[in-house]
Amino acid sequence: MLRAHPQKKQLKNSKPVSKVCKKTTALKKKTALKTTKRSMSGCPFSTMAKKPVSLPPGMTEEDVSIVKSCVPILEQGGVALTTHFYKNMLNDEQDAVKPFFNPTHQIELSQPKALAYSVLCYAKHIDDLGSMLGSADGQKLIATIVKKHLAVQVLPEHYPIVGKHLLRAIREVLGPEVATDQVLNAWGKAYGVLSDLLIGLEATGYDQLASVPNGWRGKREFKIIGKEYANDEKSAISYIIQSEDGKGVMKPLGGQYLTLRLKDDKNNINTTRNYSLSDVVREDENGIGNTYRFTTQIQDKGVVTNYLKEFKNVGDSLSVHPITGEFTLRDIILKDGNEVINPSSNDKATTFIAAGSGITPFMSMVRSYRKHFPNRPLNLIHISTNKNKELFSKDKDEFSSKFNVNIQNVFTDVDQIVQNDMNNMTPFYKNLLKTNIIDHKSGPTPAENIYIVGPAGFMKNTHNVLTQDLKLDGKKINYEFFGPATFFE
Ligand SMILES: Cc1cc2nc3c(=O)[nH]c(=O)nc-3n(C[C@H](O)[C@H](O)[C@H](O)COP(=O)(O)OP(=O)(O)OC[C@H]3O[C@@H](n4cnc5c(N)ncnc54)[C@H](O)[C@@H]3O)c2cc1C
Ligand code: HEM
Repeated sequence: MLRAHPQKKQLKNSKPVSKVCKKTTALKKKTALKTTKRSMSGCPFSTMAKKPVSLPPGMTEEDVSIVKSCVPILEQGGVALTTHFYKNMLNDEQDAVKPFFNPTHQIELSQPKALAYSVLCYAKHIDDLGSMLGSADGQKLIATIVKKHLAVQVLPEHYPIVGKHLLRAIREVLGPEVATDQVLNAWGKAYGVLSDLLIGLEATGYDQLASVPNGWRGKREFKIIGKEYANDEKSAISYIIQSEDGKGVMKPLGGQYLTLRLKDDKNNINTTRNYSLSDVVREDENGIGNTYRFTTQIQDKGVVTNYLKEFKNVGDSLSVHPITGEFTLRDIILKDGNEVINPSSNDKATTFIAAGSGITPFMSMVRSYRKHFPNRPLNLIHISTNKNKELFSKDKDEFSSKFNVNIQNVFTDVDQIVQNDMNNMTPFYKNLLKTNIIDHKSGPTPAENIYIVGPAGFMKNTHNVLTQDLKLDGKKINYEFFGPATFFE
């Protein structure tokens, strides 16, 4: 059960926003330390130069100034607000929106944090949205939201529901003295502007997903034609699924993921989950490319991974949303539904680094990379607890024998190292990364692009080793989060 955020009380006792406006300078001073800290690890736009005010459509200068004056409040208590918002909304809207959300992301607060962060950035730049949305970081933020919305199939009719609960949360968390009608009115307009932007981008995204060769809109039915363990311990399962109509399926970019829409009243399942494609599209006996493979790491008490294991077998159906995702190779892009080499690609080496089931997207990325670049140096470093738990050993044998991939398997023997305790293995790990990335002799230069997938702590540690110890450029490092992106924190 979610507990009230300790700051809630403090927020309720805050001054009305009109007074907050007048005291903005004082408040800014008060929160300066916090703001500086955030600007280092938080909102990517906070270092942007201030530009003259430009008004978002339908908003007055007063509306804009009210929204901006809430920034210190959001910095302090944004997560309390969004946690309260989700609690109410998911309780009240059991049919309309609850099935889209992963309950675990509520418990671990990753989704409330992601939403709070995006609302904070939006409020901070409400007077200059053009610059924010035009910057690389702004585009990344919006693209991440849109891609996730496309994956779970957020539609225009859902926006008023979210908007209603957001305003309700503002009123309830800040109290009617602070969240006056005027404040709610300004936020209502600001929410409308952001909604219109997202709805527009999502409409384009849905059209694109439906118009690529063999693409589709909404759900499409697939049949499970293969189900097999992906490691010796039998704690991970690969599912091969084929379109029920037998027709071709949209070709993804290596690294993208599918989304399962699961509804089974008998087993009390009504939810959505994302799974990276762990192979490229394969053809059936008639030469039609109509299958996908995904692989689940069975979670202790995990709702969907155990449900699939128990109840979904060869011959059963699965409803699948179109393939999406931003974690793809920089060297390869989609053109007219097919993978082609990115014209800006250079001939430098690439390194994939995975922990545990984080290896899944690399299974399609390796094949796709090799198809286009048969000779470029390619490293795959995979950290597992032990040989018994190691995923995809057969695929990896093929990668190293047929595709000339430099594979480094690392067995830590301690579960927790992958999760939390990377520091203990940092000297060893640093050397491993140095040997495989910096000193790797098979390529013309050290690895240009590095891709990392695993638990957030693992990715952070790896990023630190690469940028601080090995002095690599952080811009070359790419991540995938198996949940809401924690760069929002
Ligand atoms: C882009 C993307 C790609 C992904 N790709 C893959 C992939 O290729 N393979 C893969 O296996 N996963 C992948 N995931 C993760 C996947 O979507 C699911 O989150 C994962 O399978 C767990 O689902 P679940 O329903 O089994 O577990 P959940 O029921 O969501 O539970 C997850 C964990 O939280 C714990 N938990 C749940 N409730 C509580 C509670 N009240 N208190 C304490 N702990 C609790 C559970 O015990 C479990 O260990 C991906 C996610 C994303 C966003
Ligand atoms: C202006 C409005 C909105 C904003 C700013 C917003 C913002 C976000 C953000 C920041 C994420 C996290 C992205 C990631 O890293 O994965 C997200 C995910 C999500 N959003 Fe929205 N969103 C908005 C509206 C909506 C609406 C109307 C719905 C419909 C119900 C919705 C449903 C979801 C879902 C289901 C997820 C994934 C949640 C999960 O993984 O548990 N959002 N959104």
